[in-house]
Amino acid sequence: MKIVVIQGPNLNMLGVREQNIYGPMKLEQIHAQMKEVATQNGVEIEFFQSNLEGEIVDKIQECYGEAQGIIINAAAYTHTSIAIRDAISAVSIPAIEVHISNIYRREEFRQKNLIAPVCASSVIGFGPFGYHLAMMGMLQIMNEIHAAQEAQKAQQAQA
Ligand code: DQA
Repeated sequence: MKIVVIQGPNLNMLGVREQNIYGPMKLEQIHAQMKEVATQNGVEIEFFQSNLEGEIVDKIQECYGEAQGIIINAAAYTHTSIAIRDAISAVSIPAIEVHISNIYRREEFRQKNLIAPVCASSVIGFGPFGYHLAMMGMLQIMNEIHAAQEAQKAQQAQA
C-alpha cells in the first residue's frame, strides 16, 4: 500500500513564506510527521513538491498502478488548473486535498476550487495539522477499500 503526497508551488517555502497565514513549520517537518504515521501503519509513502504544473500532472499520472492514495495540496493551481483536476480524475485513485489556510475566508479568487470535486475529501484551514488529518482519512479510505476487496474475494470463492 502506497500513498503519494504531492505539494504544489511555493509550498517549499513553508516556514519562510507568510508565516501569519501558513505558520512556522517547514515542509520537511510536515513530511517527517507524515512518514512516522505511515511507518506506524505499515504503509509506504513518497513525497513530491514542484512549482511546475506539468510536473505535477506527470507525477499524478505516475501514480497510476503504483499508489493507492494521493494527498495533494495543489496550492495556487487549486484555483486555476484544469490539467491537474483532469489528471486526478484520470487515474481514479482516491485523493484527499489539503489546504493549510482556510481558502474560503481569504481573497475571492481563492474561493474557486477546481480540485475538490475530483477528490474524495478536502481538509481545509487546520494549518499543518491538516496533513495529519488527511493521513488519518486516507488510511481509513484505504482500509475500507481493502475490506471491500476482501469481502468480494470471499464471495467469489464461495460461488
Ligand atoms: C494553499 C492556499 C492557496 O490559495 C495558496 O495559493 C497556497 C497554499 C494552502 O495550503 O492554504 O499556495 O493551498
